[in-house]
Amino acid sequence: MKNRIFFLIFMMGFLYPNYFGSMNVQNNHVETEMPGDVNNDGIVDVLDLVQIVNFILDQGSLEVESAGDFNNDGIIDILDIVSIVSCIMGSGPCESVNILEIPQYVTDYHGEMLIPEDNPLSEAGIELGRFLFYDKKLSDDGTQSCASCHLQENGFTDPNQFSEGITGELGGRNAMHIINAAWFSSFFWDGRAESLEAQALGPVVNPVELNTTWSAVEDRVAADPMYPPMFEEVFGSTLIDSTRITKAIAQFERTLISFNSKYDDFFYGDFTGFNESEESGFDIYFSEVGDCIHCHQGPILNDNEFRNNGLDSELTDLGLGEITGDPLDFGKFKVPTLRNIEFTAPYMHDGRFETLDEVVEHYNSGVHEDSPNLDPEMENAAAGLNLTEEQKTDLVNFLKTFSDTTFLSNPAFADPFEEE
Ligand code: HEC
Ligand code: HEC
Repeated sequence: MKNRIFFLIFMMGFLYPNYFGSMNVQNNHVETEMPGDVNNDGIVDVLDLVQIVNFILDQGSLEVESAGDFNNDGIIDILDIVSIVSCIMGSGPCESVNILEIPQYVTDYHGEMLIPEDNPLSEAGIELGRFLFYDKKLSDDGTQSCASCHLQENGFTDPNQFSEGITGELGGRNAMHIINAAWFSSFFWDGRAESLEAQALGPVVNPVELNTTWSAVEDRVAADPMYPPMFEEVFGSTLIDSTRITKAIAQFERTLISFNSKYDDFFYGDFTGFNESEESGFDIYFSEVGDCIHCHQGPILNDNEFRNNGLDSELTDLGLGEITGDPLDFGKFKVPTLRNIEFTAPYMHDGRFETLDEVVEHYNSGVHEDSPNLDPEMENAAAGLNLTEEQKTDLVNFLKTFSDTTFLSNPAFADPFEEE
């Protein structure tokens, strides 16, 4: 209990005074309204501004509760006015800067989603990206799409240790889950791509993945009568190229957000959700007993760093070191988010562990002290955590509080071809 209160106070250091007044956003969905359009007449104009100013001055009522909350931060204030004025003057976007509902504790801790300036989210863009993510035209023989290795029910990862590409050949790494990836500053286990846009270029031409060429994909997509009007709506013309395809896919991937778990209730100040075992697991996770928090932290449960958690004494995969060539990076891998970890087995870059029990046993007694560049935060683990059987079970039970079944079944993330 003590740890939990400390943790909450720690988190609140990041929060604004209106924390408890902020809205309780539990469902991740795309807003359909233009947030600045308070009177709902289809345009954002001076009339909306008047309503908002009145609202702020005398706390009058707004028709649509959050319609004046242009920047989606949970309060209607001067910042919204600034955004709406720039929309009316034509110097800023009229669609909300952020059309996804992101709980405030997330942005307070991890900052805003990383969205490249030249690829703002739009509803049409997200929808196009969803089709492309599920479209088998992206593979050489039309048998695979991104979703073949990134399955929604598994938190957008592959339940197989190594994914089978279209030639039947196996890659050497476990597929990664795609959850809250909008906050990641690098991609792949070794960080070789710096944005979701850049990441999506890779699988199409990778021989053990979709094994085709971009020009072939561009031609196949352009030949489907469904697509040119969609590209026009998103990008202003029917041109279809790899840049636009990867931009749309990245937009869809940014919407794959998961903040609807027991763990999240805790951020809303609800201590009652955890049972006794989960509570004990919480204390292990956040204290020096288990010490998981140093790397898997905050609402996203990662720290955007590369670290070696001591899997091997002799490295067979250099991870980050393979990309940078720096011996000090040998054996470092991206710290993965633990969101929905219950459903994303197998675990680690090579999928060596099938269960969370095995993972916990690794941290408890299996850390290789002599692993090159073993992370300093692993010091305790190197000596062994000496958890009792009960503590191990508690820790695993706590890891399952990161589960968000609404994410795994959210129809907005599902295969759009099956809807038709
Ligand atoms: C044949 C299986 C396969 C296919 C098809 C595939 N991926 Fe992956 N994906 C993987 C594997 C394996 C990794 C990890 C590879 C590595 O780190 O070297 C990965 C990593 C990723 C990551 C990095 C996540 C992170 O946290 O860094 C993203 C994002 C991703 N894939 C998106 C896509 C998209 C978009 C497509 C379609 C254009 C796609 N994948 C197609 C297997 C696949
Ligand atoms: C020094 C940083 C660090 C600490 C401390 C740490 N981890 Fe990790 N964790 C990592 C890294 C890095 C990986 C990926 C390693 C790899 O695949 O090579 C990882 C992987 C995992 C995975 C597998 C994720 C996946 O998608 O495959 C789980 C589960 C996990 N850690 C849980 C824990 C738990 C529980 C604790 C506390 C007992 C903990 N971690 C402590 C850095 C850390």
